[in-house]
Amino acid sequence: MEKNKLARGVAVVGAGMSKFGSFPEKTSRDLFVEAFQEMKHSVDKELDTRNIEAFYLGNFSSDQFEKQAHLAPIIANWVGLSPIPATRVEDACASGGVALREAVLAIASGMYDVVLVGGLEKMTDLPIDQVTEALGTAADTQFEIPAGFTFPGFYAAMATAYLDEYDATPLAFSHVSIKNHKNGALNDKAQFGQTIAEIMKAKKERAVKKGLPEPTWQTEMDFLTDPKGNPAIAWPLTLFDCSPVSDGGAAVLLVAEEIAHKYSAHPIFVIGSGQASDGALHDRATLSYIPAAQEAAEKAYEMAGKKPTDMDLAEVHDCFTIAEIIATEDLGFFERGEGWKAAMAGKTARDGEHPVNTSGGLKAKGHPVGASGVGQVVEVWKQLRGIAGQRQVPGRPSVALTHNVGGSGQTCVVHIFERRNSDE
Ligand code: COA
Repeated sequence: MEKNKLARGVAVVGAGMSKFGSFPEKTSRDLFVEAFQEMKHSVDKELDTRNIEAFYLGNFSSDQFEKQAHLAPIIANWVGLSPIPATRVEDACASGGVALREAVLAIASGMYDVVLVGGLEKMTDLPIDQVTEALGTAADTQFEIPAGFTFPGFYAAMATAYLDEYDATPLAFSHVSIKNHKNGALNDKAQFGQTIAEIMKAKKERAVKKGLPEPTWQTEMDFLTDPKGNPAIAWPLTLFDCSPVSDGGAAVLLVAEEIAHKYSAHPIFVIGSGQASDGALHDRATLSYIPAAQEAAEKAYEMAGKKPTDMDLAEVHDCFTIAEIIATEDLGFFERGEGWKAAMAGKTARDGEHPVNTSGGLKAKGHPVGASGVGQVVEVWKQLRGIAGQRQVPGRPSVALTHNVGGSGQTCVVHIFERRNSDE
């Protein structure tokens, strides 16, 4: 049998997500119900949920965030799916993407025809120091965390190496942030539904209301380069270079290719899937790119028979702005050392040559870690169906990619999706 090929085709026929944000009044179960209901209503032909045969749930750490382990069967039961097999998949912030891959492989193997993939995380019940500590367990807790590293710290180390190696400027990071907030402002599911100009204006108004001197920021760059507007978190990364702490859920329904048209007149096919792993950051030869992301991308392109220039859009793992720039190089959209220039030149904007993170990305849409990889699929599914509304990529895209990273790049998973019906 040929390696790195799906033994049968797999299609996405439904997708939905809760709003991402901070929801003290909701539990993760509530958030998943919202995602599940939206997924159900999105299936354009009939879905009898009794036909769902298995459930894979991406979740990083409900044990730490909610003191609730063993989440998959609880969630499956909550949405009425018991007694189907329900499996929690944990690969840090790549949990959602890996859950998707496990479901794809399960269908391709012939084991199931209809599989639900979920992603879920409820992070905001803990105070920020405990969130930082919980996220730190995705790193090497023997060598890295005792040395004082946090996740902003890991990506700051990568940013410093990148700036140094390519003589780049941190202003490129601000360009990523401005773009992703601009896209997030068009996404009603985004945690930050505002452009940076709108956030800046609100802060100026707040200062005046409090009787403080009005900040003199005129442009988004004025605001982002002033530590009073945008303080350092881990130099050279600032507040607006970081994804936020988030709650949220997402759900997608996968079916075998030969029955896809029973569920949807517009199935979106999964044509490439690649996953790779690596040691922790302190053990790597390079800090300025993520080798496992490059490896996962190569596997996905090979399976799909596509190349980077075939991608009409991509949702990439911008947990920090530097991560988006590195991702655009690891995925082959730009040469090494060119990603920061491309970001500054607007090449990754919605109407640019390589649209990236049209949803607002993790930066503006939010990053409920276990849900993020599945949330990315919700966006590319909408874009490929042509139902992304105001943030629709022009020119009716037909091929799209998702790139989901766990930790500092110890797990990377890339998927490629295709719309086949030219009449849509
Ligand atoms: N981007 C922009 N603004 C943000 C923000 C972000 N990532 N996070 C918080 N804010 C804003 C809030 O909206 C709030 O604004 P307001 O004063 O106008 O209301 C203000 O900053 C303070 O919010 P708060 O929630 O108290 O921030 P915090 O200091 O607790 O958290 C970070 C800020 C950057 C430390 C936190 O978002 C973080 O840890 N992010 C990284 C998460 C992470 O590592 N994920 C895993 C990646 S691998």
